Amino acid sequence: MLGTFTFHNPTKLFFGENSLDFLREELPQYGSTVQLIYGGGSIKKNGVYDRVVAILKELGKTVVEDPGVMPNPTTDKLREGVRIARENGVDFLLAVGGGSCCDYAKAVSVSVHCDEDPWEKYYLRFEEPDCPIVPVGCVLTMAGTGSEMNAGAVITDPGTKLKIGHVFGDGVMPRFSVLDPTFTFSLPKYQMAAGIYDIFNHICEQYFSGEDDSTSDYLAEALMKSVVHSSRIAIQNPQDYEARSNIMWAATWALNTLIACGKSTDWMVHMLGQAVGGFTDATHGMTLSAVSLPYYRMICPHGLPRFARFAKEVWGIDPAGKSQEELAAAGLAAMEDWMKELGLALTIGELGATEEMLEGIADATIHLDGGYKVLSREDILQVLRESL
Ligand code: NZQ
Ligand code: ZN
Repeated sequence: MLGTFTFHNPTKLFFGENSLDFLREELPQYGSTVQLIYGGGSIKKNGVYDRVVAILKELGKTVVEDPGVMPNPTTDKLREGVRIARENGVDFLLAVGGGSCCDYAKAVSVSVHCDEDPWEKYYLRFEEPDCPIVPVGCVLTMAGTGSEMNAGAVITDPGTKLKIGHVFGDGVMPRFSVLDPTFTFSLPKYQMAAGIYDIFNHICEQYFSGEDDSTSDYLAEALMKSVVHSSRIAIQNPQDYEARSNIMWAATWALNTLIACGKSTDWMVHMLGQAVGGFTDATHGMTLSAVSLPYYRMICPHGLPRFARFAKEVWGIDPAGKSQEELAAAGLAAMEDWMKELGLALTIGELGATEEMLEGIADATIHLDGGYKVLSREDILQVLRESL
């Protein structure tokens, strides 16, 4: 294992059917005023809202409503959430929804007791919180981001078309998350597929780095195989509990810092996808799928042994009679076939990106150096052009 690292994940997980009941044990230890954070209304249609509110009332909590968190939550919404929290003196933030609600709750949590503008402080200046943090809990309804067990919070500023993630410290991780796979049954197929690819790509971002023998890579391969296997079942039958529960569990472990231990990690697909998202407001997982294949084909020669291993271990390609290049290429071809099976976006054009946007998207792409190739601005433009 490379380097010296700390692994500490304080989020408590409640998993499985009826895991919502654990709210009764968990919530009494927090204050009496709860800001109930949710999105555009899916939780009212599938009954999750009623079940959560019933428990909050039973526990005698004062509920402060904070609805309307949009996919890719914005700076304006963040400022509104901070205002709601301050005006009502909330003690606890309960996010009920997907990654957008969880991320937003975390961004509110570090901003309520802070005088400065949160976008400028945390997203432009990348400062750490120096004020009390309001505790957060999550009831997850969409599997994908891993936000339920990490300290990331991605916010979009529509004015500047910038979508930026800040990974905070342990203090910002949710105190607990409730993961009931049946809550994800009502997701539209498009969102389910986007979430599945988000999970898969989180694993790729950590797997495609380093040349040493690392336990993290073996864990990553196992997670990828499980995601691919379960996704094929779920896309045929979204109500298959076994498949959906495996996908939900894999999502959490894909991005809770475990498989990043001892790794430099890449994250360039996310940097490209986020820049595309800032310009198009497209669904996160689809922005990743749209840029992935041109990106991986570009960096493949620089990390050939890892791409060959990916082909053999994750996609079951027989290496016999193949050069490393042929094996690696066969792995990426198998990945492409799987992406087509899921109906993922394979171009940024279908997400609303145009030729005129490419320079701006390239400028908005953050350059990272943990992967197999450090991309120049021209490389980024080439990936974007090939993705169009
Ligand atoms: O708003 P509602 O009505 O709830 O509808 C949502 C939304 O339209 C819907 N949905 C969620 N659960 C549902 C459901 N519809 C029916 N039934 C259900 N059970 O799905 C849509 C998408 O929800 P959203 O929360 O936006 O999706 P996701 O979980 O993919 O979160 C995306 C956000 O997370 C960020 C992304 O950039 C994006 O802003 N990410 C956060 C990360 C982190 N914290 O570590 C890492 C990720 O890479 C990602 O960047
Ligand atoms: Zn992601």
